[in-house]
Amino acid sequence: MISPGDLAIGRIQTPFVLVIAMSDVTWSQLREQAIGAFDMGNMPPTVKLPALPLAVTRFMERSRDPKVDLLALARVVETDTGLTAELLKHINSAYFGLRQKVRTVQQGLALLGMRQSKLFVVTVGMQAAVRARQSKLLSQACFWNSSLQRAIFAREVARLLNTDLDVAFAGALLQDFLLPVLTNDLFDTYSDFATRRAEMPESLIDHEDASLGWNHAVAGGCIAYRWQLPDDLVCCVLYHHLGLRALADPNLCRSPVAAVCLSALLPDQLRQNFHGLEQLIRLQTKWPAFRLQSLVDQVDSLHEELSLGVENHFPLARRCRQVLNRSMQGDEDWADVPQEAAVAG
Ligand SMILES: [Fe+2]
Repeated sequence: MISPGDLAIGRIQTPFVLVIAMSDVTWSQLREQAIGAFDMGNMPPTVKLPALPLAVTRFMERSRDPKVDLLALARVVETDTGLTAELLKHINSAYFGLRQKVRTVQQGLALLGMRQSKLFVVTVGMQAAVRARQSKLLSQACFWNSSLQRAIFAREVARLLNTDLDVAFAGALLQDFLLPVLTNDLFDTYSDFATRRAEMPESLIDHEDASLGWNHAVAGGCIAYRWQLPDDLVCCVLYHHLGLRALADPNLCRSPVAAVCLSALLPDQLRQNFHGLEQLIRLQTKWPAFRLQSLVDQVDSLHEELSLGVENHFPLARRCRQVLNRSMQGDEDWADVPQEAAVAG
């Protein structure tokens, strides 16, 4: 359930004038609402859905048992050498700043705690599942680069919203996990969108809804639910194209979902939101704490730290430069910004 404390009015300074008190809505209700009548059986059989590594599935199953101990979970992680290596690398990274190196999975899980351990295992598992598939349309390197930038961005926005940083990070990393698969298995639909982008709808999901009758957010959310991911994380995937409307939604405005929705407005290979960046620039006028240029610089700096000093040839600042410069020059030709951009204000 979304913690009312997380979303309570007055806990943090609200960026918007009008925020309605949150009703007693649970994440599972929000999940059901977003999935609606969508049935994964209606997806074309040509789509080969990704599968989580066995160790990750077992970890998710075992961790649902409140009586499970860390040793048992560590044994599950240790059956997968890649997962074990990633966990130890993560816990020993500069981000945690530990004085002594952690050498065992059990120690690593104990330091992370159950909740963070689950998020970590599932994001690593999802990356492994998607990396095993190639896309004819998307460059894997660019895809993961922009996914990580979005994840860092969402975590910084979550900090401003005073909500859960880890769920925002994991949710943003997961939001488009199905796109490499879909762009490959349904190449014509997505290729048409990419090659004639300027003539296409404002958002990719509108094109998907029109061409397929469903979109990658709802399909990705359903798979995440099947994978037994926590409902707040599933909702991050389901709602990630809500845009600025998430900030005006009483159930979502102070949740990690809102942070993920803002991250989804950043530019990517498919330019999923045609005027996403312009909407973020506009948001600054409504929410003084939200400074896009500073956030973009912060993302590139944190990304560089995570890359252990390896130069990133596609920093977020470069992809945003043109629009940011234009906004600084006062050339704000946003006639095509959709109506919802103004809703949050
Ligand atoms: Fe998306």
